[in-house]
Amino acid sequence: MSKPSILVARAIFPEVLQSLAQKFEVESNQADEVWSAQELTRRMQGKVGALTTGSERIDAALLQANPQLKIVANMAVGYNNFDVPAMTAAGVLASNTPDVLTETTADFGFALLMATARRITESEHYLRADLWKKWSYDMFAGAEVHGSTIGIIGMGRIGQGIARRAAHGFGMNVIYHNRSRLSAELEAQCKATYVGKQELLQTADHVMLVVPYSAESHHTIGAAELAQMKPTATLVNIARGGIVDDAALAKALAAGQIAAAGLDVFEGEPAVHPDLLKVPNVVLTPHIASSTVKTRLAMAQLAADNLVAYLTQGQALTPLNRLPSAAE
Ligand code: GLV
Repeated sequence: MSKPSILVARAIFPEVLQSLAQKFEVESNQADEVWSAQELTRRMQGKVGALTTGSERIDAALLQANPQLKIVANMAVGYNNFDVPAMTAAGVLASNTPDVLTETTADFGFALLMATARRITESEHYLRADLWKKWSYDMFAGAEVHGSTIGIIGMGRIGQGIARRAAHGFGMNVIYHNRSRLSAELEAQCKATYVGKQELLQTADHVMLVVPYSAESHHTIGAAELAQMKPTATLVNIARGGIVDDAALAKALAAGQIAAAGLDVFEGEPAVHPDLLKVPNVVLTPHIASSTVKTRLAMAQLAADNLVAYLTQGQALTPLNRLPSAAE
């Protein structure tokens, strides 16, 4: 019997590809070309499953051109590249990779917060440019991290990981804003206090964004919100491009309206707003918050396991939608 065909849309760990090849006929992309929507749709022809990253858009047009498709497994926890209602309507299962990246991503959020508050990138550039000629009392004086107030917007698994690090490791006062309040037990574990968005922006010394991207969360931080923040505050975005209005942020940073920002995600990435490249008080990283070897391998393996579990047993491990079964 011939094996079912799947598409692995971007380069992944060879060992994960090899394990998929034992069960499936695999078309891969180890050259890691970034395909256009048309090319992705064409490559999807004849495939019952696909492994994607957050860069591949799965929408109604692609689904309509590929009625044979049964599952798309995203190698990411965020899934704003999926039109989930269209996938459900087309009978296509969607899955993501939660949990395996939570602590690694929270570590990175903290790293970016530290680098931003303590001006690590800016001062390293200064040193590399051979500008360091003497010690001085206020050289790259930054913002205090320990004992300060962190305001976390989006209190899912990663937000909670950041809260635990902040409260237990750095003695920070943790305030958060989220669509829904955490249980009293989780609030106690995270030592976190629920506040309104305005209070968070006005009170926090460091604002951390960990909210999923949706039409509702688009530009959660824009000019009006930046104007409410303290002039000494920092802003960190490890969530998704589009949560922050990058043009407004570049203006606020240039004007000293807030002290600094740390950004791992950008509107329209991999393009970065040119004005952000001009301001010194921003730390910029290329969407690497989950990127440790161990975690990226776990993410690839979980995406592959979702494909295998669904295509061989009809049940994905971490599904995002529920499809009516043939019997229903
Ligand atoms: C990365 O951004 C992810 O959503 O996993």
